[in-house]
Amino acid sequence: MSQAPPDSPGHPSAHTMSSLPEGYRALVVGAGGGLGAAFCDRLRADPRCEQVLGLGRHSNPPLELMDSASVQAAALQAAGQAPWHLLVVASGILHGPGLRPEKRLADLNADAFHRVLAINTVGPALVLRHFAPLMDRQRSLVGLLSAKVGSIGDNRLGGWYAYRASKAALNMVVKTAAIEMARTHKGLVMAALHPGTVRTGLSDPFNGQTLGRDPQEAATQLLAVLDGLKAEDSGCFRAYDDSELPW
Ligand SMILES: NC(=O)c1ccc[n+]([C@@H]2O[C@H](COP(=O)([O-])OP(=O)(O)OC[C@H]3O[C@@H](n4cnc5c(N)ncnc54)[C@H](OP(=O)(O)O)[C@@H]3O)[C@@H](O)[C@H]2O)c1
Repeated sequence: MSQAPPDSPGHPSAHTMSSLPEGYRALVVGAGGGLGAAFCDRLRADPRCEQVLGLGRHSNPPLELMDSASVQAAALQAAGQAPWHLLVVASGILHGPGLRPEKRLADLNADAFHRVLAINTVGPALVLRHFAPLMDRQRSLVGLLSAKVGSIGDNRLGGWYAYRASKAALNMVVKTAAIEMARTHKGLVMAALHPGTVRTGLSDPFNGQTLGRDPQEAATQLLAVLDGLKAEDSGCFRAYDDSELPW
């Protein structure tokens, strides 16, 4: 996880979220993770940003994705400062105790599969349920960290059943929520985002330190992608270089 201060040498300068109002306020879920911490850093370095509320299992209030009451309680607290202008959901799981991405069908384990779906799909859907209504109706942005391996059309290698399925399902949640939210929040734009390979704990066992990009750079790029989205883009699946990914 990168702890570099916002303006340390070698880090890209902050992206200025020019499509959001001066003094915009941002929420980051998964703020303790590699990408989540980088989003918080980059946003705090944007002079237009007035407030960044980082939420996670160790924040106050805590937000545990496997506990719907904790998601609701965190949203209730954030509601006191609504409307918000930016929500980034940067949480997710790929590996952990008793959990390794499967190479073959024989590796499937029901408990592990349920855990991945709970954290990568159900949890973010509950975050949308409770936080999307708090977003500004004029102009607000919601980015949920997905992954290119969640693309069904792009799946050439196989493997990683639970993670792939959880991200494909997350993409459907994003698309469906974008359609619903457009009815009441015409200025809210929602996107599933692929960060590329980034040097974090999540990518570490998979050569992430060698192959991955700096989390600060990835966060800056993803903020620029979000900033450029128009109302008609809501429900899209975009990569860090702004390319559209196949479902
Ligand atoms: N890194 C990559 O190369 C890469 C590539 C493609 C997609 N992504 C996606 O990018 C997102 C961010 O990943 P990352 O690389 O930053 O991983 P990371 O450093 O492992 O961070 C994951 C975050 O998810 C949070 N989290 C996990 N389980 C949770 C739970 N039950 N309740 C609440 N929060 C929970 C963690 O919270 P704690 O701090 O409390 O553990 C942490 O903040 C993920 O959705 C991942 O799938 C990453």
